[in-house]
Amino acid sequence: MKTIVEKIYQGQQKDERDEIIKRAGEIIKNGGLVAFPTETVYGLGADALNEEAAKKIYAAKGRPSDNPLIVHIADMGAIAGITETIPKKAGIVADAFWPGPLTMIFRKNARVPDGTTGGLDTVAVRMPDHAAARELIHAGGGYVAAPSANTSGRPSPTDACHVEADMEGKIDMIIDSGSVDIGVESTILDMTVEPPMILRPGAVTREMLEALIGRVAVDGTLISDTSTEAPKAPGMKYRHYAPKAKLTVVAGEISAVVEEIRRLCRERMKEGRKVGIIATEETVMKYTQGNVKCIGTREDESTIASHLYGILREFDSDEVDCIYSEAFEADGIGSAVMNRLMKAAGQHVIEVK
Ligand code: TXA
Ligand code: MG
Repeated sequence: MKTIVEKIYQGQQKDERDEIIKRAGEIIKNGGLVAFPTETVYGLGADALNEEAAKKIYAAKGRPSDNPLIVHIADMGAIAGITETIPKKAGIVADAFWPGPLTMIFRKNARVPDGTTGGLDTVAVRMPDHAAARELIHAGGGYVAAPSANTSGRPSPTDACHVEADMEGKIDMIIDSGSVDIGVESTILDMTVEPPMILRPGAVTREMLEALIGRVAVDGTLISDTSTEAPKAPGMKYRHYAPKAKLTVVAGEISAVVEEIRRLCRERMKEGRKVGIIATEETVMKYTQGNVKCIGTREDESTIASHLYGILREFDSDEVDCIYSEAFEADGIGSAVMNRLMKAAGQHVIEVK
């Protein structure tokens, strides 16, 4: 299959943009696959109400079929078309955070095929905060199932070039609008339980939700990696976001962390290994050996979120043998960053004093 790549950009002629969106919408309506930008990561879209189309997503990604897809909508009215009842709290949360980096889980109605929800009787719904994404959802019939547009097990794509690397020849079209804004996937909030429960941390934090609707629980498997329970979002059980090299997170007081990473780097290099280091603006000058990448500043952790997946992919192309990353503060969007980083590391962390 030849994958068409079309660019959408600021200042583009409106009719040119409309024409791209129209063609992409036709592909989706005809059961094909279109990768598109959102504010979090690129999604791989198909008609959510067409079981055969949803199945193609699993094939293109190499994704286990028990891992359900998020249905993307473009207006509030669309929720009622695919769900049973919408709890009052969900309306409050939607008013505050949609469009935005938040997915809510509801009881599904019969219109949503099992192929989209991995056989579950619930459906995950999100309204993305990206104009081209919402235009495409409209053009594609209103309900677009979209996981992150990466090969299963690889870091989520935060730029169209990542999508091309993984999906070239496997999907019909890629809409390229450059790098995304946030860089980690949406917060998932299960509205079918009371209190509502966070199944995946993202840019919309527990504190932000609690300020609106009172107590919000967090899936225990996200807090403790020693939990023997399965995570409630099926996708969270897979070792996602994995770079090819072994990644180790080093946590503790920052100057001790830098010392330990420098020591580990020297040791590995003596053994003839290629070492990658994930540093911050505050520490990058302190590393004098290894393949050092600056992920962003500790002053603003959203800069770290937006570079995380891109840096993991760069280390794959650089073919390093091992990667050491500094740990980051786990508050605000930092909780999403640390969740993804620890998963990429297979929970492997060294604590220093
Ligand atoms: O930011 C995002 O959410 C991106 C963009 C493209 O919108 N999408 C995304 O999709 O991250 P994906 O498929 O990579 O992750 C969806 C997660 C998986 O962990 C899946 O198991 C969970 O959502 N999920 C989907 N439907 C669910 C349901 N009904 N119940 C529990 N978990 C569900
Ligand atoms: Mg994903």
